[in-house]
Amino acid sequence: MILSVTMNPSVDISYPIQDFKLDDVNRVENVRKTAGGKGLNVARVIKQIGEDVLATGVIGGTIGDYIIQGLTKSDIGNHFFKINQESRNCIAILHDGKQTEILESGPILSAEEGAAFLEKYQELLSEVSLVTISGSLPSGLESGFYRQMVEIAWEKGISVIVDTSGEPLRQVLTHDVKPFAIKPNISELSQLLGIEVEESISSLKQLLTNELFHGIEWIVVSMGGTGAFVKNGGDFYKVTIPAINVVNPVGSGDATVAGLAVALKRKQSVPDILKTAMTTGMLNAMEAETGYIDREKFGQLFEMVEVIKID
Ligand SMILES: Nc1ncnc2c1ncn2[C@@H]1O[C@H](COP(=O)(O)OP(=O)(O)OP(=O)(O)O)[C@@H](O)[C@H]1O
Ligand SMILES: [Mg+2]
Repeated sequence: MILSVTMNPSVDISYPIQDFKLDDVNRVENVRKTAGGKGLNVARVIKQIGEDVLATGVIGGTIGDYIIQGLTKSDIGNHFFKINQESRNCIAILHDGKQTEILESGPILSAEEGAAFLEKYQELLSEVSLVTISGSLPSGLESGFYRQMVEIAWEKGISVIVDTSGEPLRQVLTHDVKPFAIKPNISELSQLLGIEVEESISSLKQLLTNELFHGIEWIVVSMGGTGAFVKNGGDFYKVTIPAINVVNPVGSGDATVAGLAVALKRKQSVPDILKTAMTTGMLNAMEAETGYIDREKFGQLFEMVEVIKID
Protein backbone atom coordinates (compact mmCIF):
# COMPACT_ATOMS: atom_id res chain seq x y z
CA MET A 1 0.00 0.00 0.00
CA ILE A 2 1.09 3.59 -0.70
CA LEU A 3 0.58 6.29 1.94
CA SER A 4 -0.25 9.71 0.53
CA VAL A 5 0.20 12.69 2.87
CA THR A 6 -1.65 16.02 2.65
CA MET A 7 -0.93 18.26 5.65
CA ASN A 8 -3.20 21.14 4.61
CA PRO A 9 -6.15 19.74 2.62
CA SER A 10 -9.05 21.87 1.46
CA VAL A 11 -12.49 21.84 -0.03
CA ASP A 12 -11.96 23.34 -3.47
CA ILE A 13 -14.97 25.40 -4.54
CA SER A 14 -15.39 26.47 -8.12
CA TYR A 15 -17.79 29.32 -8.95
CA PRO A 16 -18.42 29.72 -12.69
CA ILE A 17 -19.53 33.37 -13.03
CA GLN A 18 -19.68 34.53 -16.67
CA ASP A 19 -19.81 38.21 -15.93
CA PHE A 20 -18.12 38.72 -12.58
CA LYS A 21 -18.98 42.05 -10.96
CA LEU A 22 -16.67 43.52 -8.31
CA ASP A 23 -18.29 45.36 -5.42
CA ASP A 24 -21.70 43.94 -6.38
CA VAL A 25 -23.81 40.84 -5.88
CA ASN A 26 -22.85 37.80 -7.99
CA ARG A 27 -25.20 34.84 -8.11
CA VAL A 28 -23.85 31.46 -9.07
CA GLU A 29 -25.22 28.11 -10.21
CA ASN A 30 -23.32 24.92 -11.05
CA VAL A 31 -21.13 25.25 -7.97
CA ARG A 32 -18.60 22.44 -7.62
CA LYS A 33 -17.11 21.43 -4.30
CA THR A 34 -14.44 18.76 -4.21
CA ALA A 35 -11.96 17.43 -1.69
CA GLY A 36 -8.74 19.20 -2.65
CA GLY A 37 -5.08 19.33 -1.77
CA LYS A 38 -2.16 17.95 -3.73
CA GLY A 39 -1.81 14.69 -1.79
CA LEU A 40 -5.50 13.96 -2.32
CA ASN A 41 -4.98 14.29 -6.08
CA VAL A 42 -2.08 11.87 -5.75
CA ALA A 43 -4.27 9.43 -3.80
CA ARG A 44 -7.11 9.63 -6.35
CA VAL A 45 -4.81 8.90 -9.29
CA ILE A 46 -3.06 6.02 -7.48
CA LYS A 47 -6.48 4.54 -6.82
CA GLN A 48 -7.49 4.93 -10.47
CA ILE A 49 -4.34 3.15 -11.64
CA GLY A 50 -5.49 0.28 -9.48
CA GLU A 51 -3.05 0.37 -6.58
CA ASP A 52 -3.98 0.42 -2.89
CA VAL A 53 -3.63 3.82 -1.27
CA LEU A 54 -4.20 5.31 2.15
CA ALA A 55 -4.65 9.09 2.51
CA THR A 56 -3.47 10.84 5.65
CA GLY A 57 -2.75 14.32 6.95
CA VAL A 58 -4.45 16.79 9.26
CA ILE A 59 -8.12 17.64 9.06
CA GLY A 60 -10.78 19.40 11.12
CA GLY A 61 -14.34 20.63 11.48
CA THR A 62 -17.25 20.21 9.09
CA ILE A 63 -14.99 20.98 6.14
CA GLY A 64 -12.77 18.13 7.28
CA ASP A 65 -15.82 15.86 7.47
CA TYR A 66 -16.78 16.85 3.93
CA ILE A 67 -13.29 15.95 2.68
CA ILE A 68 -13.46 12.55 4.37
CA GLN A 69 -16.92 11.91 2.90
CA GLY A 70 -15.55 12.71 -0.57
CA LEU A 71 -12.65 10.30 -0.14
CA THR A 72 -14.86 7.56 1.25
CA LYS A 73 -17.29 8.00 -1.65
CA SER A 74 -14.36 7.46 -4.03
CA ASP A 75 -13.44 4.38 -2.01
CA ILE A 76 -10.11 5.87 -0.93
CA GLY A 77 -8.95 4.60 2.46
CA ASN A 78 -8.20 7.46 4.83
CA HIS A 79 -6.79 7.97 8.28
CA PHE A 80 -6.45 11.65 9.12
CA PHE A 81 -5.36 13.25 12.36
CA LYS A 82 -8.33 15.33 13.57
CA ILE A 83 -7.94 18.80 15.05
CA ASN A 84 -10.51 21.20 16.51
CA GLN A 85 -10.02 23.97 13.95
CA GLU A 86 -11.76 23.92 10.57
CA SER A 87 -9.88 22.78 7.48
CA ARG A 88 -9.81 25.38 4.72
CA ASN A 89 -11.83 26.30 1.68
CA CYS A 90 -10.09 27.32 -1.52
CA ILE A 91 -12.27 29.24 -3.96
CA ALA A 92 -11.73 29.61 -7.70
CA ILE A 93 -13.97 32.11 -9.51
CA LEU A 94 -14.09 31.28 -13.21
CA HIS A 95 -14.96 34.45 -15.10
CA ASP A 96 -14.38 35.87 -18.58
CA GLY A 97 -12.01 33.00 -19.45
CA LYS A 98 -9.95 33.88 -16.37
CA GLN A 99 -9.58 32.34 -12.95
CA THR A 100 -9.45 34.40 -9.73
CA GLU A 101 -8.46 32.36 -6.70
CA ILE A 102 -9.08 32.98 -3.02
CA LEU A 103 -7.02 30.59 -0.94
CA GLU A 104 -7.51 30.36 2.82
CA SER A 105 -4.26 29.74 4.68
CA GLY A 106 -5.98 27.11 6.82
CA PRO A 107 -5.64 26.14 10.48
CA ILE A 108 -2.63 27.06 12.63
CA LEU A 109 -1.23 23.93 14.23
CA SER A 110 0.46 23.75 17.62
CA ALA A 111 3.74 21.88 18.10
CA GLU A 112 1.77 19.33 20.16
CA GLU A 113 -0.63 18.68 17.29
CA GLY A 114 2.36 18.28 14.95
CA ALA A 115 3.91 15.74 17.33
CA ALA A 116 0.61 13.87 17.70
CA PHE A 117 0.28 13.65 13.91
CA LEU A 118 3.81 12.23 13.68
CA GLU A 119 2.84 9.49 16.11
CA LYS A 120 -0.13 8.56 13.96
CA TYR A 121 2.08 8.70 10.85
CA GLN A 122 4.54 6.32 12.48
CA GLU A 123 1.73 3.85 13.16
CA LEU A 124 0.42 4.06 9.60
CA LEU A 125 3.89 3.31 8.25
CA SER A 126 3.56 -0.26 9.45
CA GLU A 127 0.87 -0.78 6.78
CA VAL A 128 2.67 0.76 3.79
CA SER A 129 5.70 0.26 1.55
CA LEU A 130 6.00 3.75 0.01
CA VAL A 131 5.09 7.31 1.07
CA THR A 132 4.27 10.41 -0.98
CA ILE A 133 4.30 13.84 0.66
CA SER A 134 2.73 16.66 -1.35
CA GLY A 135 2.05 20.35 -1.01
CA SER A 136 2.65 23.00 1.60
CA LEU A 137 2.85 22.74 5.37
CA PRO A 138 0.11 24.26 7.51
CA SER A 139 1.01 27.32 9.59
CA GLY A 140 2.48 26.60 12.98
CA LEU A 141 4.62 23.63 11.95
CA GLU A 142 8.34 24.27 11.61
CA SER A 143 9.82 24.10 8.12
CA GLY A 144 11.77 20.92 8.98
CA PHE A 145 8.56 18.94 9.49
CA TYR A 146 8.76 17.00 6.19
CA ARG A 147 12.42 16.32 6.87
CA GLN A 148 11.37 14.60 10.11
CA MET A 149 8.76 12.61 8.20
CA VAL A 150 11.38 11.43 5.69
CA GLU A 151 13.66 10.38 8.54
CA ILE A 152 10.92 8.46 10.40
CA ALA A 153 10.11 6.51 7.22
CA TRP A 154 13.82 5.91 6.52
CA GLU A 155 14.22 4.35 10.00
CA LYS A 156 11.61 1.79 8.92
CA GLY A 157 13.23 1.27 5.51
CA ILE A 158 10.36 2.98 3.64
CA SER A 159 11.05 5.24 0.64
CA VAL A 160 9.50 8.69 0.42
CA ILE A 161 8.65 10.82 -2.62
CA VAL A 162 8.55 14.51 -1.70
CA ASP A 163 6.75 17.08 -3.87
CA THR A 164 6.92 20.42 -2.10
CA SER A 165 8.70 23.76 -2.53
CA GLY A 166 10.49 26.57 -0.72
CA GLU A 167 12.02 26.13 2.72
CA PRO A 168 10.38 22.73 3.52
CA LEU A 169 11.99 21.32 0.33
CA ARG A 170 15.36 22.89 1.15
CA GLN A 171 15.19 21.38 4.64
CA VAL A 172 14.47 17.94 3.19
CA LEU A 173 17.41 18.22 0.78
CA THR A 174 19.97 19.49 3.29
CA HIS A 175 19.39 16.64 5.73
CA ASP A 176 21.65 13.56 5.98
CA VAL A 177 18.66 11.28 5.41
CA LYS A 178 17.48 11.81 1.83
CA PRO A 179 14.09 11.32 0.21
CA PHE A 180 14.01 8.59 -2.43
CA ALA A 181 12.52 10.90 -5.05
CA ILE A 182 11.58 14.53 -5.63
CA LYS A 183 9.54 16.05 -8.48
CA PRO A 184 10.25 19.76 -8.78
CA ASN A 185 8.97 21.74 -11.75
CA ILE A 186 11.19 24.38 -13.34
CA SER A 187 9.95 27.25 -11.16
CA GLU A 188 10.39 25.23 -7.95
CA LEU A 189 13.91 24.32 -9.08
CA SER A 190 14.65 27.98 -9.87
CA GLN A 191 13.40 29.06 -6.46
CA LEU A 192 15.49 26.37 -4.76
CA LEU A 193 18.71 27.26 -6.58
CA GLY A 194 18.10 31.01 -6.61
CA ILE A 195 18.63 31.26 -10.38
CA GLU A 196 16.47 31.33 -13.50
CA VAL A 197 16.71 27.67 -14.60
CA GLU A 198 16.84 27.08 -18.37
CA GLU A 199 15.13 24.05 -19.89
CA SER A 200 18.29 22.94 -21.73
CA ILE A 201 19.85 19.51 -21.32
CA SER A 202 23.35 20.80 -20.63
CA SER A 203 22.27 23.29 -17.97
CA LEU A 204 19.84 20.88 -16.25
CA LYS A 205 22.46 18.15 -16.23
CA GLN A 206 24.93 20.47 -14.58
CA LEU A 207 22.39 21.82 -12.05
CA LEU A 208 21.32 18.37 -10.91
CA THR A 209 24.90 17.53 -9.99
CA ASN A 210 24.63 20.27 -7.33
CA GLU A 211 25.47 19.02 -3.85
CA LEU A 212 21.87 19.64 -2.74
CA PHE A 213 20.77 16.62 -4.78
CA HIS A 214 23.45 14.14 -3.71
CA GLY A 215 22.09 10.84 -2.51
CA ILE A 216 18.60 11.25 -3.99
CA GLU A 217 17.80 8.29 -6.20
CA TRP A 218 15.23 9.98 -8.45
CA ILE A 219 15.01 13.66 -9.41
CA VAL A 220 12.18 14.17 -11.88
CA VAL A 221 12.14 17.76 -13.14
CA SER A 222 8.74 18.02 -14.78
CA MET A 223 8.34 20.57 -17.55
CA GLY A 224 4.62 20.64 -18.40
CA GLY A 225 4.02 20.06 -22.12
CA THR A 226 7.77 19.55 -22.71
CA GLY A 227 7.95 16.35 -20.63
CA ALA A 228 10.73 15.99 -18.08
CA PHE A 229 14.44 15.88 -17.37
CA VAL A 230 15.47 13.18 -14.94
CA LYS A 231 18.43 12.09 -12.84
CA ASN A 232 18.35 8.49 -11.60
CA GLY A 233 21.44 7.52 -9.60
CA GLY A 234 24.27 8.73 -11.84
CA ASP A 235 22.24 8.57 -15.07
CA PHE A 236 20.41 11.36 -16.86
CA TYR A 237 17.36 11.07 -19.08
CA LYS A 238 15.36 13.40 -21.28
CA VAL A 239 11.74 12.33 -21.53
CA THR A 240 9.65 13.62 -24.41
CA ILE A 241 5.88 13.36 -24.66
CA PRO A 242 3.40 13.56 -27.56
CA ALA A 243 1.19 16.57 -28.23
CA ILE A 244 -2.12 16.09 -26.42
CA ASN A 245 -5.41 17.89 -26.13
CA VAL A 246 -4.93 19.86 -22.90
CA VAL A 247 -8.18 20.57 -21.04
CA ASN A 248 -6.95 21.43 -17.52
CA PRO A 249 -3.28 20.91 -16.57
CA VAL A 250 -3.78 21.76 -12.86
CA GLY A 251 -2.69 18.79 -10.76
CA SER A 252 -0.69 17.13 -13.55
CA GLY A 253 2.37 17.22 -11.31
CA ASP A 254 0.37 15.39 -8.64
CA ALA A 255 -0.73 12.79 -11.19
CA THR A 256 2.93 12.42 -12.20
CA VAL A 257 3.86 11.76 -8.56
CA ALA A 258 1.08 9.14 -8.41
CA GLY A 259 2.39 7.40 -11.56
CA LEU A 260 5.94 7.53 -10.23
CA ALA A 261 4.85 6.03 -6.90
CA VAL A 262 2.91 3.18 -8.51
CA ALA A 263 5.70 2.37 -11.00
CA LEU A 264 8.32 2.37 -8.23
CA LYS A 265 6.11 0.19 -6.06
CA ARG A 266 5.70 -2.23 -8.99
CA LYS A 267 9.46 -2.21 -9.52
CA GLN A 268 9.16 -1.34 -13.20
CA SER A 269 12.23 -0.73 -15.40
CA VAL A 270 13.72 2.79 -15.52
CA PRO A 271 12.15 3.69 -18.91
CA ASP A 272 8.77 2.28 -17.83
CA ILE A 273 8.83 4.22 -14.54
CA LEU A 274 9.32 7.44 -16.47
CA LYS A 275 6.76 6.53 -19.12
CA THR A 276 4.18 5.76 -16.43
CA ALA A 277 4.82 9.04 -14.59
CA MET A 278 4.55 11.11 -17.78
CA THR A 279 1.44 9.25 -18.93
CA THR A 280 -0.49 9.84 -15.70
CA GLY A 281 0.51 13.53 -15.84
CA MET A 282 -0.75 13.83 -19.43
CA LEU A 283 -3.95 11.94 -18.68
CA ASN A 284 -4.74 14.41 -15.88
CA ALA A 285 -4.11 17.36 -18.23
CA MET A 286 -6.61 15.88 -20.71
CA GLU A 287 -9.50 15.99 -18.21
CA ALA A 288 -11.46 18.92 -16.77
CA GLU A 289 -11.43 17.44 -13.29
CA THR A 290 -8.22 17.67 -11.25
CA GLY A 291 -6.81 14.34 -10.07
CA TYR A 292 -8.87 12.35 -12.55
CA ILE A 293 -7.52 10.15 -15.35
CA ASP A 294 -9.13 8.04 -18.07
CA ARG A 295 -7.35 4.71 -17.74
CA GLU A 296 -8.56 3.57 -21.16
CA LYS A 297 -6.15 6.01 -22.80
CA PHE A 298 -3.16 4.89 -20.73
CA GLY A 299 -1.64 2.25 -23.03
CA GLN A 300 -1.68 4.32 -26.19
CA LEU A 301 -0.07 7.39 -24.58
CA PHE A 302 2.46 5.27 -22.69
CA GLU A 303 3.82 3.96 -26.01
CA MET A 304 4.27 7.50 -27.30
CA VAL A 305 6.55 8.66 -24.46
CA GLU A 306 10.22 8.57 -25.38
CA VAL A 307 12.97 8.12 -22.81
CA ILE A 308 16.40 9.16 -24.08
CA LYS A 309 19.50 8.47 -22.01
CA ILE A 310 21.92 11.42 -22.01
CA ASP A 311 25.68 10.70 -22.22
N1 LIG B 1 0.33 21.13 -21.20
C1 LIG B 1 0.69 19.84 -21.08
N2 LIG B 1 0.76 19.03 -22.16
C2 LIG B 1 1.13 17.75 -22.04
N3 LIG B 1 1.47 17.17 -20.87
C3 LIG B 1 1.42 17.93 -19.76
C4 LIG B 1 1.03 19.29 -19.79
N4 LIG B 1 1.09 19.78 -18.53
C5 LIG B 1 1.50 18.75 -17.76
N5 LIG B 1 1.70 17.63 -18.48
C6 LIG B 1 2.19 16.32 -18.01
O1 LIG B 1 2.20 16.31 -16.59
C7 LIG B 1 3.55 16.32 -16.08
C8 LIG B 1 3.65 17.22 -14.88
O2 LIG B 1 3.23 18.52 -15.22
P1 LIG B 1 3.90 19.87 -14.68
O3 LIG B 1 5.34 19.88 -15.01
O4 LIG B 1 3.07 20.99 -15.18
O5 LIG B 1 3.74 19.68 -13.10
P2 LIG B 1 3.49 20.76 -11.95
O6 LIG B 1 4.00 22.10 -12.37
O7 LIG B 1 4.06 20.18 -10.71
O8 LIG B 1 1.89 20.78 -11.84
P3 LIG B 1 0.91 20.87 -10.56
O9 LIG B 1 1.75 21.33 -9.39
O10 LIG B 1 -0.17 21.81 -10.96
O11 LIG B 1 0.35 19.52 -10.32
C9 LIG B 1 4.42 16.72 -17.27
O12 LIG B 1 5.73 16.24 -17.13
C10 LIG B 1 3.63 16.11 -18.43
O13 LIG B 1 3.85 14.71 -18.48
MG1 LIG C 1 3.55 20.54 -8.71
